Amino acid sequence: MLWRVALASELLLVWTLAAAENPRAGVSQQRKVPLTEDAPLSKRCARVRGEWCLPFHTQQPVPWKPAPRGSIDCPTNCNNVGRCNHDTGYCDCPAGWRGPGCKVVQKRPCTGLLRSPDEQLKEPISSIGPDKRDKNWTAPGNAPSRCFGVCDDALALCYCDGPMGRIPAPDDAPPGTPPIRRGRPIMHVHEGPKTGYCNVSKPAWAPICGPEDLTGPLCDQPQEAFCPGACAGHGFCDLGFCRCDEGYYGHDCARRKASLPLLPSSIAQRPWVASQVVEPPAAMEPPPKDTRRRPLIYVYDLEPLYNSKLLQYRIAPAWCTHRYHIKDNMTHWSVWGYAAESSIHEYLLMSEHRTFDPEEADYFYVPHYGACLIYPVMGWADYPWFWTPGGSRVMQVINMMREMVEWLDGTYPFWKRRGGRDHIFLFTHDEGACWAPNVVKDSIWLTHWGRMDLNHTSNTAFTWDNYTADFVNWRQPEGYTKYIAGHPCYDPVKGGAGAGLVAASCRGSLVPGFKGVTHYHRSPLQAAPAKLREIFFYFRGDVGKNRLPHYSRGVRQAIYKMAKEGDWATKHKVLVGDGGDFPGDYSDMLSRSIFCLVAAGDGYSMRMEDAVLHGCIPVIIMDEVHVVFEPILDVDSFSVRLPEAHVPRLLEILQAIPEETIRSKQSCLGKVWHRYRYGNLPGLATELRGQMDFNKQDPLLK
Ligand SMILES: *[C@@H]1O[C@H](CO)[C@@H](O)[C@H](O)[C@H]1NC(C)=O
Ligand SMILES: *[C@@H]1O[C@H](CO)[C@@H](O)[C@H](O)[C@H]1NC(C)=O
Ligand SMILES: *[C@@H]1O[C@H](CO)[C@@H](O)[C@H](O)[C@H]1NC(C)=O
Ligand SMILES: *[C@@H]1O[C@H](CO)[C@@H](O)[C@H](O)[C@H]1NC(C)=O
Ligand SMILES: *[C@@H]1O[C@H](CO)[C@@H](O)[C@H](O)[C@H]1NC(C)=O
Repeated sequence: MLWRVALASELLLVWTLAAAENPRAGVSQQRKVPLTEDAPLSKRCARVRGEWCLPFHTQQPVPWKPAPRGSIDCPTNCNNVGRCNHDTGYCDCPAGWRGPGCKVVQKRPCTGLLRSPDEQLKEPISSIGPDKRDKNWTAPGNAPSRCFGVCDDALALCYCDGPMGRIPAPDDAPPGTPPIRRGRPIMHVHEGPKTGYCNVSKPAWAPICGPEDLTGPLCDQPQEAFCPGACAGHGFCDLGFCRCDEGYYGHDCARRKASLPLLPSSIAQRPWVASQVVEPPAAMEPPPKDTRRRPLIYVYDLEPLYNSKLLQYRIAPAWCTHRYHIKDNMTHWSVWGYAAESSIHEYLLMSEHRTFDPEEADYFYVPHYGACLIYPVMGWADYPWFWTPGGSRVMQVINMMREMVEWLDGTYPFWKRRGGRDHIFLFTHDEGACWAPNVVKDSIWLTHWGRMDLNHTSNTAFTWDNYTADFVNWRQPEGYTKYIAGHPCYDPVKGGAGAGLVAASCRGSLVPGFKGVTHYHRSPLQAAPAKLREIFFYFRGDVGKNRLPHYSRGVRQAIYKMAKEGDWATKHKVLVGDGGDFPGDYSDMLSRSIFCLVAAGDGYSMRMEDAVLHGCIPVIIMDEVHVVFEPILDVDSFSVRLPEAHVPRLLEILQAIPEETIRSKQSCLGKVWHRYRYGNLPGLATELRGQMDFNKQDPLLK
């Protein structure tokens, strides 16, 4: 059974019946009916391919069993800085520490000059002195973390010097001693100190705060930071790393040490958290409702370097997460393109599918934050690297994952048991799992990029992501590309390598990218008043004006050129260009379009999601590339697919599509769109409902 697929099917909340009369009138006359638990299965399973949906919904609940609880203690209380894992007896260390028992100091100094690849140094070069200030301003180097104040050299964060500045803990203070004064942060800005911001209590100049846990005009008010699952209400979130209450453990503090009584979760005491997360059902004994259904998924407590430490190292809250806190601790949905990384993780932590018992688990989810490493962490300061600076950015993640699998295998017995075939890895980066390390080749991959050809080479136009470009260094004289070669980016073939449990599974599954509610606020499917669909064909975005020719496989460029030269905008209502060509509300324009282009970018580009969420028929032009959910939903029923070679005939092909076909595809869109929304994250669900109510009422929109 395709359990992981069923999971994706659970990402639904609201059902929409489509009944549009006139394709140009869009999907206006639809009745919107909330999809409830007891909605007919024919509706819940509409437009699916394969045998997975009905069995998933009709299965017998799995009886509840008390969760196993660890009792192994960690030596020396993890140096008073780490978190003891009572299953393994190993310490999880936050930023600043590493190694067994968290005894080794792991600096992340504010850096002047990033190391060059050929420097075979173990410890990062620091341009700050023992007093945590820059040693020599006139020395060359201006890496992003270079600090014009006092450096927090566990995080490479810069704070003010002077009266409002930071006073670090004394050098001989015991591990974990907080600074005497935290001070005002100065992120990204060299002006701060010059304006008096660091000198007077009420400066005129207002900074950008940087670390998520500080807010207010002077960045001195506490703010909730994002930890997946908000530490289950049994711990404090330290910029992404959960510091658990006494006797609680695991990366989200959901586990309870053996023989201690369960305590109430503090989630309810913080309304801004209570609106976003629930305590994991698996953590409650007995759970409120005994309705567990397979698949049961064990979510690994990873070595923090592969996820929560990266959150601590991220340079601004808008990166690495699908949501973060802003003023008054309100949740803000991120527009970060790789946000499925944290949203799927957080969803699984809170899901009824989560089990704490590896022995009953169908699958093991490995929540690494590789995309977080790629974008806002790598290259900010001279740590962390996997294992040396330089090479492509994906090389860093490849090495991280190879190290991670070694760690998994050395720490738990489950990797070996089925050769990793029941382990799930998510690849959110542009070219998806094209560069998945071979050590995970038998595992299950979730990705957004469904490229299927076997002998693929990287097609990114962004040189630093080119996985075909090898990199030889002291640690890998053999290069890194040999560790990723020989597998396709994605393999839709069912009955893959594994026997038994995953026998009926496909190798990879294409999951949607994460989109916040405002992204499709004007969608008629979101109950916004339907407008005439008078735009015949729409694409707005990077049309490759300043790109290498292979960007988007040349598709966007070719269509742009034809449309511009032929004045298709005026003649045929074909709007293809960037924001300069066609300004306006993106969501509104998608809602007024009949056909929408889905072409590659550097890899995937989430245009399938944009189109479907707005009831616009996706026109897929990517040879040998599957789109989101392709093997498990009847994608043909709500999209059009054209070979790249037919791009020159695009207009005539689309114009020849009969009205009733358009109508039928629009109707099918209304039956599947909700699957693209991650709508069962509690906070998102509330907001979706709120947006729907708003859309129904707002007279200005009518
Ligand atoms: C500071 O750096 C400059 C430029 O590299 C160098 O000439 C100077 O000697 C350095 N000063 C000290 C005190 O190291
Ligand atoms: C801030 O105070 C320092 C001394 O603590 C002084 O050197 C500097 O000029 C002051 N800066 C401003 C902008 O007032
Ligand atoms: C926001 O959350 C932090 C951390 O939980 C808390 O200390 C602070 O009081 C909260 N602020 C508001 C305005 O609720
Ligand atoms: C892919 O490359 C391998 C090794 O170079 C070769 O043996 C194989 O025939 C190629 N497959 C295809 C489909 O081109
Ligand atoms: C990636 O690197 C390879 C090997 O250096 C090179 O041949 C190829 O052109 C590069 N690909 C892109 C898309 O730049």
